[in-house]
Amino acid sequence: MDTERLAGRKALITGAAQGMGAAIAKNWAEQGAAVCVADLNEDGVKQVAQEIRDAGGQATHFTMDVTSEADAEAAVAHVVKEFSEINLLLNNAGVNKPTMFPDTPKENYDFIMSVNAWGKFNVMRAASKQMIAQGKRDYMYKIINVGSIASRMAFDDIIPYAMAKHAVLALIRGGAKALVDHGVTVNGYGPGVVRTEMWEQLDKDLVEIGKFEKPGQSMDSLAANMIEMKRYSYPEDVLGTAAFLASSDSDYMTGQLLMIDGGMVYQ
Ligand SMILES: NC(=O)c1ccc[n+]([C@@H]2O[C@H](COP(=O)([O-])OP(=O)(O)OC[C@H]3O[C@@H](n4cnc5c(N)ncnc54)[C@H](O)[C@@H]3O)[C@@H](O)[C@H]2O)c1
Repeated sequence: MDTERLAGRKALITGAAQGMGAAIAKNWAEQGAAVCVADLNEDGVKQVAQEIRDAGGQATHFTMDVTSEADAEAAVAHVVKEFSEINLLLNNAGVNKPTMFPDTPKENYDFIMSVNAWGKFNVMRAASKQMIAQGKRDYMYKIINVGSIASRMAFDDIIPYAMAKHAVLALIRGGAKALVDHGVTVNGYGPGVVRTEMWEQLDKDLVEIGKFEKPGQSMDSLAANMIEMKRYSYPEDVLGTAAFLASSDSDYMTGQLLMIDGGMVYQ
C-alpha cells in the first residue's frame, strides 16, 4: 500500500461509525489522510477514531446528525479546527427500511428521504461553502457522494430509498457544475449488495414484510439471480474506487457515479 497516496488530504467522512464508512476511514488514514470520523453513533465514532490512531493514523471524531444544518456546519468547522482545512468529503451516511408499495407510510418516506437526500445535500452544502472560502489550491478539493445500484434502478420494496439515491445522482451532476470553477470535483460511487450492518437489518426486514421466507435468503438470492459475479460484496470491495476518487488520480473527472456492483447495473 502507498502510505503517501492521500497525504495532505483532510477528510470529513459521515456514517463512519460502522460499515463502509468505517472501512474507508481506516483505509484512507493508512494511505496518509487525516480523517474526521462522523456519525450519529457517539461510541462508534470514538472507537473508530481511536482504532485509527492506535494504528498510527491521524483521526478525530465528531458526533452529528446529517439532517441538522447546525451539525453539518459544526462538523466542517471541527475538521478545519483540527486539520486547518477541509479538502475531502465522503458523504456516506445512509439508512434504509423496506416497505411494500403502496403500503408505505409517510413516516418511512420522510425518514429515508431526509437522511439519504437532504442529509447529503446539507453536508455537501456546508463543506462546499468552506472549500470555496478557502480559495483555489494547487490540488482539487474532492466531494464523494455515496449512491447505490438504486441510483440507477428501482425495486418495489424500497421506492423512497431509490428516489433518494436517484437524487444523489442529481446532486453529483449539479454539484459538479456548481463547484468546478472553485477547484472542486464532485463524484460518487454506487455499491450493489454489501454485507454491512445495513444489509443484516435489511435482510431481517425483508423477511418481516414477506419478501423472503428466511434470513440470509435475500442476499443469496440477489447474488445468484442479479449479480453477474454471483457473489455479494464486502466493505473491502469499495476501497479501491473510494481511494481513487479521493486521490489526484481522479482530478480530471467530475459529475460521475461509478458502479461497484459485481455487474448489476450497466450505465
Ligand atoms: N450495504 C449495502 O448493500 C449498500 C448498497 C448500496 C449503497 N449503500 C450505501 O452506502 C452507504 C453506507 O452504507 P453501509 O451499508 O455501510 O451502512 P451502515 O448502516 O453499516 O452504516 C451507515 C452509518 O450511517 C449512520 N447514520 C445513519 N443516519 C445518520 C444520520 N442521520 N446522521 C449521521 N449518521 C447517520 C449510521 O449510524 C451508520 O453508522 C449508505 O449511503 C448506503 O445507502 C449501501
